[in-house]
Amino acid sequence: MRYLKLDTSLTKSFYTKKDYDELVTEVQKARETLESRQGLGNDFLGWLDLPITHDSREVSRIKQAAGRICEHSDVLLAVGIGGSYLGARSCVELFKPYFGNNGCEVIFVGNHISGSYMNELLDYIKDKDYSINVISKSGTTTEPAIAFRILEEALISKYGKEEAKHRIFATTDKARGALKTLADAEGYETFVVPDDVGGRFSVLTPVGLLPIAASGVDIDLVLEGAKEAYLDFSTNKDVANNIAMEYALIRNLLYRKGHKLEILVNYEPRLAYFAEWWKQLFGESEGKDHKGIWPASANFTTDLHSLGQMIQDGERTMFETVLEIEDVAKDVTIKANDNNLDGLNFLAGKTMNEVNHVATLGTRIAHHDGGVPNILIKLNEVTPKSYGYLVYFFEYACAISAYTLGVNPFNQPGVEAYKKNMFALLGKPGYEELKAELEKKIK
Ligand code: PA5
Repeated sequence: MRYLKLDTSLTKSFYTKKDYDELVTEVQKARETLESRQGLGNDFLGWLDLPITHDSREVSRIKQAAGRICEHSDVLLAVGIGGSYLGARSCVELFKPYFGNNGCEVIFVGNHISGSYMNELLDYIKDKDYSINVISKSGTTTEPAIAFRILEEALISKYGKEEAKHRIFATTDKARGALKTLADAEGYETFVVPDDVGGRFSVLTPVGLLPIAASGVDIDLVLEGAKEAYLDFSTNKDVANNIAMEYALIRNLLYRKGHKLEILVNYEPRLAYFAEWWKQLFGESEGKDHKGIWPASANFTTDLHSLGQMIQDGERTMFETVLEIEDVAKDVTIKANDNNLDGLNFLAGKTMNEVNHVATLGTRIAHHDGGVPNILIKLNEVTPKSYGYLVYFFEYACAISAYTLGVNPFNQPGVEAYKKNMFALLGKPGYEELKAELEKKIK
């Protein structure tokens, strides 16, 4: 596996070889279920061979659109939520310099309903040139729909209707939904979310690729990396040779041993949004039928000074998966200081990244010794290719893990409950009965 290594040595004291061997058969079966396309949710498997089936003409159209956006805009407003947001953000934040931007500045909007945020955003963009990419598979999701209504109006009043056609891009279903109807009526360029790819598996479709390309990341390389992962994981059928299967196995094994919460840990701030994407991928795929590992995340060493106590010493129901970057680009060396008043001369000559690696190792051992199993995923470099590889690795592992757990990885029935209540309470036509029922409950 070219970009990734999986080290499970700090999990082994939490289960026996017999426990492990028993699960191997189940995980192999889960993989067969996935690859034979016979499992639950099998009409949403478009992501599985996407790295080799994507339409290269569509990818060229995405790159051209991104080029045009960056030519005439300082800012791209990427409007979307959930799977129509997190994948793109995970990549944009991973490759964007900590200070500044590579391509145009991508601002993610429509992923909450804060009026205060929208008010300040309108103020921030008013003297800037901007374009909008509104992304919604269903085309009816409330959060991005509200944001788009407001931003479209602002854009049209700044540039006029004709120019809006060159500045607004809609990524949505090929035929259905309010956004598709609106985009066609207004003459906006559209990109298609494939029918058989669910939101949280859609980062390698136009959903993720257009904002990613606009941010300056080479999407051809992202897709190449995903293809390498596809070839690795679809051809290696045994747990021993397939780290996606092994990761799925270990997390299910730990879950069955009472470790019901997984913390994805990073030591590099630019990975924070990758963890947000990962949380949605695993949370929405596995949290069903009153089962599922709770996907949490932590940014170390920052959170060692807030959550560290809980992890070391709190209730023993968690395990950690550390996503470590082996070769972090850019570094600073710590120098010797004559008076050594801060007592740090023992670090002189070491770089900050070296200290960070030692912090990773020391923390992993401490948490393991405190009763927290620790999986290590080593990513050898942060490049568009390794990002594509990592995305596909987690998607593949997630599907196998959910099948091993016995749930449909590809639906999200639970997401509807809050929406129904919100619509009813807001007085949406058709929800009158539910409104009355809810009002009785809150009186
Ligand atoms: O993974 C999913 O399917 C969800 O998180 C959706 O992506 C999210 O609800 C947004 O839906 P839509 O793209 O239809 O606006």
